[in-house]
Amino acid sequence: TRNRRLNVTCVTLLVSVHLFRWLRRQRSISCPPGPLPWPVIGNAAQLGNAPHLYFTRMVKKYGNVFQIKLGSRTVVVLNGESIKQALVKQGSEFSGRPDFTSFKYISNGNSLAFGTSTDWWKVHRKVAQSTVRMFSTGNPHTKKKFENHVLSEGKELLRLFLRKTKEDKYFQPMTYLVVSTANIMSAVCFGKRYSYEDEEFQQLVGRNDQFTQTVGAGSIVDVMPWLQYFPNPIKTIFDNFKQLNLEFSAFIRDKVMEHRKTIQSSTIRDMTDAFIVALDQISDKMGLSEKDYVTATVGDVFGASQDTLSTALQWIILLLVKYPEIQVRLQQEVDKVVDRSRLPSIEDQQQLPYIMAFIYEVMRYTSFAPLTIPHSTTTDTSIMGYTVPKNAVIFINQWSINHDPGIWSHPDTFDPERFLRQNGALNKDLTSNVLIFSLGKRRCIGEELSKLKLFLFTALIVHQCNITADPARPVMMGYNYGLTLKPHPFYLAVSLRDDMTLLEAATS
Ligand code: HEM
Repeated sequence: TRNRRLNVTCVTLLVSVHLFRWLRRQRSISCPPGPLPWPVIGNAAQLGNAPHLYFTRMVKKYGNVFQIKLGSRTVVVLNGESIKQALVKQGSEFSGRPDFTSFKYISNGNSLAFGTSTDWWKVHRKVAQSTVRMFSTGNPHTKKKFENHVLSEGKELLRLFLRKTKEDKYFQPMTYLVVSTANIMSAVCFGKRYSYEDEEFQQLVGRNDQFTQTVGAGSIVDVMPWLQYFPNPIKTIFDNFKQLNLEFSAFIRDKVMEHRKTIQSSTIRDMTDAFIVALDQISDKMGLSEKDYVTATVGDVFGASQDTLSTALQWIILLLVKYPEIQVRLQQEVDKVVDRSRLPSIEDQQQLPYIMAFIYEVMRYTSFAPLTIPHSTTTDTSIMGYTVPKNAVIFINQWSINHDPGIWSHPDTFDPERFLRQNGALNKDLTSNVLIFSLGKRRCIGEELSKLKLFLFTALIVHQCNITADPARPVMMGYNYGLTLKPHPFYLAVSLRDDMTLLEAATS
């Protein structure tokens, strides 16, 4: 009997070990595959200085859905067709935001863009969406007003470019493009523009790089929060990030307070007035009045728009300079359709397919928002056969779609022509494949405004001037990674094609 008991124990042990192994295998079959993580840092060291490219390499090995470990956090990275599945077909399940440390410092933790999805976020997003539309693409009247802001600022920018060319021959346009973009949004949000010499404004909007590096997917402090507690370079970057958010919020809060003192709800002067009226009403109704959602929302719109749009302008200008023959072709189209006797306007957009093709190709080729703001799951779920637990961090690799050889021929070649049909019309089936404003419930609320702005800016620039590179410093395609990809500094010269008569007359 002793032997029998021993046998039973051995068999039970063996069965348990097998059962345990089998269960573990089952679990790992249903978890997304991925590279082996290191202790403590996980796969953080592998991301390198272009995480979107590392992710795209991993797709070849593991497929469109894989899992990495960043510090203590497990991150599921979605690529290719899994993106539409998650963001559109399973929209609510993937619409959260992770509880990252850095997100808590943005707009005092009341941010619409960086806060997770709640009932309040839904209402808040709707109000923000309709308010943005009311001051840009809402109707022909608001469009004209927006066009006027772009033209006025275009005139100032062009004057400055001509002065800089005269003074320095070749100059770096980056800061001026940031101030110019911020000024357009400042006109929309606060009814006010700033001079290019205004140091305070330059300081305020000139720190986008620090912001986007900290909140970009793969940022270290969010996955290794212990780095905040002793002196090290990451802590210094994070302290700067906190400081710039405080200063940015203080600037916006001052503007909101000034507006509150003089507001008359019968005449809405700008976006801040509109947000005060709409959000106060809703916060009161929902019993949320102790929080300053107006400052947070105006901050979100002002912040989200100036960083992304100025980055877009930098790439547009860089590519105009890098490909002079494309610049000439754009000029020819605009000259033919608009003529030299007036400025391009919103109404010309339909007749300028090559300009639109160029803009779509800039967005596709550079994919300057390579990953979205990180998402999180709001419930236990699964994607493409893999289980994903609630509150998992989700990275969405937009770059993987924009460079998918299954969608694009020669994806690494810059070729606006790919978006034109044989008869020269814009191929809207193809333009809708470009992914840079994300999809689904978190899709960017500034998409229409952005496309309008980029169209007007590009049409105006090619209609009015020639831009050339410094032959001594050829333009490079390198960039710094963050929420947006920022091109390395480059130099250019600007000359007028005719004179300033049209611009002076249009905006006086
Ligand atoms: C070319 C310009 C722009 C690009 C490429 C861009 C791209 C994006 C991306 C990728 C997201 C994250 C979506 C996600 O997490 O899935 C986003 C969110 C957002 N964008 Fe934009 N954006 C641009 C311009 C603007 C402008 C002009 C505004 C404001 C008028 C704006 C306001 C927002 C807001 C408020 C969110 C947060 C939405 C939410 O979390 O529900 N963006 N944008």
